[in-house]
Amino acid sequence: MQEKIGNKNKDNRPIGIFDSGFGGLTVMAAIKKALPMESLIYFGDTAHIPYGSKSRNMVVKYSKEIIDFLIKHKVKLVVIACNTASAFALSILRRTSPVPVIDVIEPGSKAAVYASKNKKIGVIGTEGTISSKSYPRKINKIFKCAKVYQQVCPLLVPLIEEGWNSGEIIDSIVKKYLKPILNRQIDTLILGCTHYPLLKKALEKNIGNNIALIDSAKATAREVKDTLMKSHLFANIKSKKFLKFYVSDNPKKFQIIGSRFFSGEILNVKKVKMIN
Ligand code: DGL
Repeated sequence: MQEKIGNKNKDNRPIGIFDSGFGGLTVMAAIKKALPMESLIYFGDTAHIPYGSKSRNMVVKYSKEIIDFLIKHKVKLVVIACNTASAFALSILRRTSPVPVIDVIEPGSKAAVYASKNKKIGVIGTEGTISSKSYPRKINKIFKCAKVYQQVCPLLVPLIEEGWNSGEIIDSIVKKYLKPILNRQIDTLILGCTHYPLLKKALEKNIGNNIALIDSAKATAREVKDTLMKSHLFANIKSKKFLKFYVSDNPKKFQIIGSRFFSGEILNVKKVKMIN
């Protein structure tokens, strides 16, 4: 579907985005905002959510199956809109994918190094993301002397999915989780899980205004835009664009919970049978 418009190549194929379930919709929303002329296909692996507490092998297996599905749908680029899948599967997917693959950890790390003045950076995320040490590795590759302090926050994903984004319980859990890394004088905190942008207000309330919050969704959308620009893959502005949603289980639930993450209505969710 690549066509020549004037002197520039235009590519109307969709961008493929995937996550374990709902969280990646925060990334999709940021991409939609940054690139309103692009068609987007989202895959939420709701049959296997959460990825955060699963082993590397399982997450890699699911991620490979999903990327194959997206490639069959002729996407021009894939976004791993899940920190845990990025931590475990990025290098494997990049090695085998015929199209560019963008994760959320690289853009988030770059944005954090850029934002931090004292180069003391905190990261919160799932068990899988934190244990993989992907963020410290990536950050130290960008800036060798940066100090990275991590904290696993397993209770946050289920609470956010229940719609508990504020209130006394969230306040006290956030305070308890963040105390050890706040004691390290971090000036920047990476929201290393695609659910956490929904907690921004609660985090700001409980950690004060002096710590920059890095939302990988926005940083990832910028990276997608840069890659499309460098590879001449932008869609033609006049092309008819679409948004499609696929899940591996429970489309109705996805529609209801997902709309909070997407900050907009989700229509036309199709269920796909997975092999694994
Ligand atoms: N999307 C996952 C992540 O960003 C969080 C939800 C899950 O554990 O599957 O790590």
